[in-house]
Amino acid sequence: MTETPLTIALSKGRILQETLPLLKEAGIELLEDPSASRKLIFDTTREDVRIIVIRATDVPPYVQHGGADLGVAGKDVLMEHGAEGLFEPLDLEIARCKLMVAALKDAPPVSGRVRVATKFVNVARAYFARQGKQAEIIKLYGAMELAPLVGLADRIVDIVDTGNTLRANGLEPTEIIADDISSRVVVNRASMKTRHGDIQGILDKLEQAVAKRR
Ligand code: ATP
Ligand code: PRP
Ligand code: MG
Repeated sequence: MTETPLTIALSKGRILQETLPLLKEAGIELLEDPSASRKLIFDTTREDVRIIVIRATDVPPYVQHGGADLGVAGKDVLMEHGAEGLFEPLDLEIARCKLMVAALKDAPPVSGRVRVATKFVNVARAYFARQGKQAEIIKLYGAMELAPLVGLADRIVDIVDTGNTLRANGLEPTEIIADDISSRVVVNRASMKTRHGDIQGILDKLEQAVAKRR
């Protein structure tokens, strides 16, 4: 009986672009270009490995519930989702950025309840609670930078890399929530036991590919 292929979940965009070269070095290459296809499942040069392409925020639930055996997700997305049902054995050291609080340039401190727009609602809630500040969290799905400009929020919590997006919108970072965001390999806990040999083999090769780039 042929076993189901080992399934690796990647997200469109920078994680896909930056993970494919690492997978190639680990001996796993896609048989077609995912950016030129509407398909969601891709065969690879290894018959026992396939790749699915999903939204970044869907990688943790896919891996947690066994829709994929392993996946690659930003630490920000993992912090927001929580670690339940997931191993996080390897930092791929790609898509590096920070998770920050930002405000309109020279914005005054907020007295009382601060209105915070973000897609990272759990991270933001926990952060402001730790600071002992009352916060009203407004869930958005993108373009958080717009919220302070139109008076929707006093602060945002978002990813910052070069700071160009903040600057272009008259915003500035005010606090760092996490300065070590990068993409991590996550593994389903059951798969780690039942398919340990296959998974460990891939992890070892990926780890070598990451180390070579340092
Ligand atoms: P979607 O487009 O589905 O809303 P997304 O915007 O989270 O998803 P990407 O922009 O590809 O998808 O981000 C994937 C991961 O890359 C993020 O979870 C984060 O860890 C990291 N990342 C996001 N923006 C940047 C950036 N400007 N520079 C470096 N890394 C980033
Ligand atoms: C991300 C993030 C910020 C921006 C930060 O957006 O959501 O807006 O990068 O990077 P910077 O500090 O270098 O400007 P992305 O490019 O992923 O676009 P998106 O809105 O489609 O997610
Ligand atoms: Mg993005």
